[in-house]
Order: sequence, then C-alpha cells, then structure tokens
Amino acid sequence: MPPPHVSRLLLILACLVAAAGHDDAAARRTMEAFAGFPSSDDGESPFSVDSEGLQRQIDELASFSDSPAPSVTRVLYSDKDGQARRHIKGIMNQLGLSVREDAVGNIFGRWVGSEAGLGAVATGSHVDAIPFSGKYDGVVGVLGALEAISTLKRSGFQPKRSLEVIMFTSEEPTRFGISCLGSRLMAGIEELAQSLINVVDNQNVSFLEAASSAGYKMHPEDLHSVFLKKDSYSAFIELHIEQGPILEKEGIPIGIVTAIAAPASIKVEFEGNGGHAGAVLMPARNDAGLAAAELALAVEKHVLDSGSIDTVGTVGILQLHPGAINSIPSKSHIEIDVRDIDEKRRNDVIEKVRQSAAEISKKRGVVLSEFQIINQDPPAQSDKSVIDAMEFAVKQLNLEYKLMISRAYHDSLFMARLSFSFLSPSHQLIRPIMSSFCRISPMGYSHKPEEYASPEDMANGVKVLALAMAKLSLE
Ligand code: GLV
Ligand code: MN
Ligand code: MN
Repeated sequence: MPPPHVSRLLLILACLVAAAGHDDAAARRTMEAFAGFPSSDDGESPFSVDSEGLQRQIDELASFSDSPAPSVTRVLYSDKDGQARRHIKGIMNQLGLSVREDAVGNIFGRWVGSEAGLGAVATGSHVDAIPFSGKYDGVVGVLGALEAISTLKRSGFQPKRSLEVIMFTSEEPTRFGISCLGSRLMAGIEELAQSLINVVDNQNVSFLEAASSAGYKMHPEDLHSVFLKKDSYSAFIELHIEQGPILEKEGIPIGIVTAIAAPASIKVEFEGNGGHAGAVLMPARNDAGLAAAELALAVEKHVLDSGSIDTVGTVGILQLHPGAINSIPSKSHIEIDVRDIDEKRRNDVIEKVRQSAAEISKKRGVVLSEFQIINQDPPAQSDKSVIDAMEFAVKQLNLEYKLMISRAYHDSLFMARLSFSFLSPSHQLIRPIMSSFCRISPMGYSHKPEEYASPEDMANGVKVLALAMAKLSLE
C-alpha cells in the first residue's frame, strides 16, 4: 500500500484532472504510471479553484491605491501598503496558516506539514505596485498562492513538507531604489543590511524611519534577523503574470520559467553651474541636463551595439534641478536599468556607460558627482527538479505550456540563493527555484493600468501551482 499522503496526492491529481475536464481514464493511467500503483477516484471533486473569489480579492486589493482606478500605486510603507499588508495577513489567518512577519515586513503564512523539520516548499510574490501600474503584477503570486493553499485544504490534502506563502517586502525599487528588497535581505546580503542603515528616499526620509512609521520599528542590527538559513526551503515557485506578449501571441496559457535575466541598475549625477536661461550665452554653459540627455542616448547606443535582442536598457528616471523653464539645469539625476540573459554582455554595457559618463562630463565641463551601481545581479537558473514538478502538473492538467526565460526580475532571483541544501545526482549544488507565468493580455502590457489576466488563465496558474507544490511537498 502507498503511504497515506501519496494516496491523497493521487486522489487530488484525479480531482484536478476531472476539474479540468480531462479524460478521466487517461488521467488515471498517467497517474498510475507516475506512482507505480493503481489509484482510485471515489467521489465528487472538492478540488476546484474559486476563480471568482480570486478576482474579487484582486479587485479589493487594487482599491488600496494612491492613484485613481484603473491604475494602482502602492509604495513601500505607505498607508496603502499597510492596508494591503493587513489584508494579506487577514486572509492567511482565515486559512489557518501560522503567520509571522520579519523585521522589514516580509510576511510568511505557513501550513505546517507532517514532517515540519524538513525544508518547506515556498511560494509567493509582492503586492507593492510602481506608480500608475496595474493590479496583477505580484498580486497574482500572493493571492493566487493563497487560493492554491485554500484549494489544497478544501481537497483534504495533507502536506509532508510544510507549504509556505511569502509576501515579500518591496520587490519594486520605487521608494529606496532597491529592487527585491525583502528577498534580497532574506538571502543574507550583508552590503544591503549596511546600506539600508543610511539610505533615504527622495523626501530624505530614511529607510529606518519609514519602516518605523509603518509599524516596523527596528534597530539597525535587527536587519540581520531577516537573513534566512540556506536550507530553509527545499523549493520555491513564484506564480506571476508574464509581463510580455509571448504567451498571448502564441495562444499558450502557461509559461514555465527556466531562467531569470540578469538585472542591474545605476544612479548617475552631473553638476554644472546652472544660471539664467536668457542671460548665459551658449558657449559659456555647462548644462547638467544636456549631459544627462546625452548619457541617455549613449545607453541606447551601447545596448543596441551589443548586437543581441536580449540586451535591454532603460532610463526611467531623469530629474533636473532646479526644474524651472528659465533656469539652466545645474544638477541632473538619472537612473538606468540594464538587463540581459547574458551576464557578461550586460556587464560590458555597464562598463561602456561608465566610460560615456566620464567622457560626457569632460566634454561638457560638468562634474560627474556620482556613478553608483546600485545592483548588478547575476541571472538565476531554475532547477530541473522544480521544472519537472511544474511540467508534471501542466501535463496532468492537459494544459499547453512553453519553457521560457523571464526578462522581468522576481523575488525568485534571490530565493534561488537560499536553497542550496540538496545535492543533485551529479553532486552539484542545485538551486530549486521556479517561476511560472500565466498569460497576460492585451499585448502583454504590464507596469501599466491596462495590465490584465483573465480569471480562467489565473485559475490555470493556481491549479498548476497547487499541484506542483503538493508534489514537491511529498518528496
Ligand atoms: C520587476 O518589476 C521588474 O522590473 O522586472
Ligand atoms: Mn513589477
Ligand atoms: Mn512583479
């Protein structure tokens, strides 16, 4: 006889397949092949995703916003961020999860498994939203994950490894310029703990002050308590909208992510003399604004010169001081985002941008007062064991899927650094992470109010997540 938790998984697989309208006999044959013994499906399926409830939750969360609907703006440690946090903790409590929060507000909801000492299987994402964005980015990976847990609970599933949903603090770099702040800190990056002590936002509010006013009062040394042990998790899967057009264009509902592209961000400041827009003649000027404009064009040139479609660069912030039409900019501040699936090619672009900044400063007689690489992260690979679990799930659900690269970054990039405890058959250290995508439409819009994912696509994503987590929990 199979152990009870294995029988339970098989029953769930049967129910899932039935819920997906899949041919039951064929599904049972597949499950038998997987498990090596016959399974039985003896009753009504309690295993179905509440896609209407999930949509309602997403709409409700979107109402916690500092910009008018349909846009969403929810910035770290703002009042709206606080409301969203309370909302998520409320759902976790209703689901009977054991809830904890760390010093910076990463929120963990754990369903304790029968072998609680084993590394947990985790999932999760973020609910902060960049200014004027949409309501699905990150949110599907938190509320969808909670619906996956709810679905497994309703089915009667009992996890062996604990299952955990994490709501990460500040995946978006909006307030302090630091992306994936919560997961980066969980991964134990000492330089980040140091820089968080001094970093300020554009209103000169420090990270520690902002955290304190949101209810996370801490001493600088408490930042270290956020670090997690390397073997805290056996696997991590993040459900996320695709944020690009590929799945929609190809008519495929699910993407399984094999790698996440390497992101980097840079802050640059130029300083000149400024002066009166009418009285200072052109030859006498050293315009910090034009230096920034020239650097923005240099970023585009270096990115295009890489010769690869996979290299991308964006200047999303360009601020001029004093910001008056009749005053020559005396200071400029620009923030540059560069990414590639090839780390060396991305680093070569950064080096060329650095050279251009120095040349422009010389040519224009402005001071390059800052050239700071904020982050220069390596890419992350998904581990085969987790890809296998996802492929197993999509195949059981009879869904079409595509293996793909994530060009957006996600908290998975840093969760990949935490899970080093397994040895693969070839005795290499492996990194069990995974992101899975659900289709987004129209046109793959994201980071815009037009962002949209259909309830059906989200329900498919939730089912795949639930099944893959159930499988990994029993391993
Ligand atoms: C995440 O929001 C990203 O910019 O990739
Ligand atoms: Mn985002
Ligand atoms: Mn996101």
